[in-house]
Amino acid sequence: MRIDIVTIFPEFFGILDVSLLGKARVSGLIETHVHDLRDGAHDKHRTVDDTPYGGGAGMVMKPEPWGVILDAILSDAGSAPIAISSATEADSIAADGIPAGGPLLIVPSPAGEQFTQAMARELAHEQQLIFACGRYEGIDQRVVDHYSSRMRVRLVSLGDYVLNGGEVATLAMIEAVGRLIPGMVGNPESLVEESHENGLLEYPSYTKPPTWRDLDVPPVLLSGNHGAISTWRHEQQVERTTRVRPDLLPNVSPDTEAEPDADR
Ligand code: ADE
Repeated sequence: MRIDIVTIFPEFFGILDVSLLGKARVSGLIETHVHDLRDGAHDKHRTVDDTPYGGGAGMVMKPEPWGVILDAILSDAGSAPIAISSATEADSIAADGIPAGGPLLIVPSPAGEQFTQAMARELAHEQQLIFACGRYEGIDQRVVDHYSSRMRVRLVSLGDYVLNGGEVATLAMIEAVGRLIPGMVGNPESLVEESHENGLLEYPSYTKPPTWRDLDVPPVLLSGNHGAISTWRHEQQVERTTRVRPDLLPNVSPDTEAEPDADR
């Protein structure tokens, strides 16, 4: 997968060199390109923001630098080819005129659709993601309006709170998506059993020693009875989800069963 990030803080993304994502980059599973938005501003001060039309607090990001940088990304030979506009081709412009294939532009924004594990799974199949990290009061709306006719664009929110900009949200999304790319996580079983994968929160985990500070590991986990362990873990998932996140329960299929034992 190719990932492009446009930001006024390129140094923020040095963190991509470490940990699992760093390894994925070295092995070629993920290719990242970080672009400084100010390289698209041609005045002496490399200005990327201005006061809002109509008045109001704060500054808005100007459209021109975005145009320069996003055009350069789209015309880069390494970018996913933009879908061509023949309605007869499966991977081209969809019937409603929205581009179907090629890169997906993600604009992190508290006004976007909620980022979820299901969305992370979906995004893990993309060829190329472009993250547009806004700051201040956001990006001039015409950037989204213009690029929506050239590629798919999604405004995505990390949650119902306001960050100072899209950088932290972008890193969170890259980590959530990156670990789902086939070949990324050593043990794919651990992906199946974690929080949100079956709509429930994860069960509690224990390791050695069997007793620590007078606290015992639940005996069923030491029993060797794989069926009983699966049932206990499922009960724990349901109990935890009911207590902490009852809002998730309507999304759980009634026949969600205990996972077959993974023999971990
Ligand atoms: N930018 C500012 N707040 C954000 C949020 N909650 N999610 C994504 N991007 C943001």
